[in-house]
Amino acid sequence: MTADTAGAAADGKGFDLTRLLAERGGERYDLHARHLNHQLPRMLHTIGFDKVYERAEGAYFWDADGQDYLDMLAGFGVMGVGRHHPVVRKALHDVLDASLADLTRFDCQPLPGLLAEKLLSYAPHLDRVFFGNSGTEAVETALKFARYATGRPRVLYCSHAFHGLTTGSLSVNGEAGFRDGFAPLLPDTAVPLGDLAALERELARGDVAAFVVEPIQGKGVHEAPPGYLRAAQELLHRHKALLIADEVQTGIGRTGDFFAYQHEAGVEPDLVCVAKALSGGYVPVGATLGKDWIFKKVYSSMDRVLVHSASFGSNAQAMAAGLAVLSVMEDEQVVANARRTGDLLRGRLAALVGKYELLHDVRGRGLMIGIEFGKPSSLGLRSRWAMLQAARKGLFAQMVVVPLLQKHRILTQVSGDHLEVIKLIPPLIIGEREADRFVDAFTAVMDDAHGGGGLLWDFGRTLVKQAVANR
Ligand SMILES: Cc1ncc(COP(=O)(O)O)c(C=O)c1O
Repeated sequence: MTADTAGAAADGKGFDLTRLLAERGGERYDLHARHLNHQLPRMLHTIGFDKVYERAEGAYFWDADGQDYLDMLAGFGVMGVGRHHPVVRKALHDVLDASLADLTRFDCQPLPGLLAEKLLSYAPHLDRVFFGNSGTEAVETALKFARYATGRPRVLYCSHAFHGLTTGSLSVNGEAGFRDGFAPLLPDTAVPLGDLAALERELARGDVAAFVVEPIQGKGVHEAPPGYLRAAQELLHRHKALLIADEVQTGIGRTGDFFAYQHEAGVEPDLVCVAKALSGGYVPVGATLGKDWIFKKVYSSMDRVLVHSASFGSNAQAMAAGLAVLSVMEDEQVVANARRTGDLLRGRLAALVGKYELLHDVRGRGLMIGIEFGKPSSLGLRSRWAMLQAARKGLFAQMVVVPLLQKHRILTQVSGDHLEVIKLIPPLIIGEREADRFVDAFTAVMDDAHGGGGLLWDFGRTLVKQAVANR
């Protein structure tokens, strides 16, 4: 800060973030409604999620009254090591204080090499890394590299898949709701998750570059059946096509293994996409890990050195955050914790399936858990369920998510449009205390729903009215 700028800040002029937030933080919902996606505040007001959170740490945030909220969503999975982890935070302070000559673009900085080396140590069969800035960019990179390396145009993907929302990633999205109206997309083809015959049929056409797959689908929390990834890999390689594992959500410990594909021996994807939790929740980052020969083909000559690149890729803040996250993962044994706490939480929730007729399934691995609701057997509940289903599928799950926040101060999400599934993807550092709090709250909400409790179903009727009005 120069003497001039210091003077300006003291005068109440110049840029002062703390003052700006103090003066205008209260306008947050209005600003959003006016200048950003206006449907977000609208939706938040409608379901009463329009809170003002002031502070966050670990797996919790606090509102203006000092009430704590348990975060079972982790910012769609980016807060793997929790919010404001002190080690990540210090690394970011340090990297700023170091005033590095970052992003000159015509030198080689140490941090990208160090992060690549570290990431590859978790996937020893892979050799090289491309750093971008988000999950979708990690997928775009994999799609481009696969097409170039194989010289083939078509990519196969799974029905219901989610790989990001830029145009290439959208071309391998398995949901019409995301795709409709954005055509023309790339000439890619969906196959059902787990259907090896469908995969082989498409491969036989000889034009397939790759098959991109989430080892556990984020939408609905559906796991590839045992043996599927390994068999798919064999088929792909026999047909000279590549296996791309999209580990944007499942990677970095989420499922109790560092990468979800490692759950089964012998699965060695040719390209692996990573993002979300590598950021420490601070600095957007994407990484595409791949085999040496693929990178050598893409970057086949000096002329092609920038054939695939990103202005902000490998920036020092992102690299520092990534290195700090991986260090925390090891020092605090976060992957083992995700497995242990995930088993505990999933086990306790699964034990409720027989107790509540509306609760049909609890599935997933590690701290990626799907809770599925379905048609009840008793007459009274059946008519209420039918009322919701007639208006819109997914309303019951919404009816559970809302009191979990309103009454129990726990943030969760419905796992995709028109799905009666709640997905839990909390920070990977949660323990028994958080598992207990969630199970107790969920049990109370289920008791309300099954006791025919007035309030919950009244709210259901409100949701029905809104759904009908929205048609
Ligand atoms: C499996 C998967 N791939 C890709 C993406 C896209 O990541 P981003 O939102 O960082 O672009 C997501 C985001 O949720 C994801 O879950």
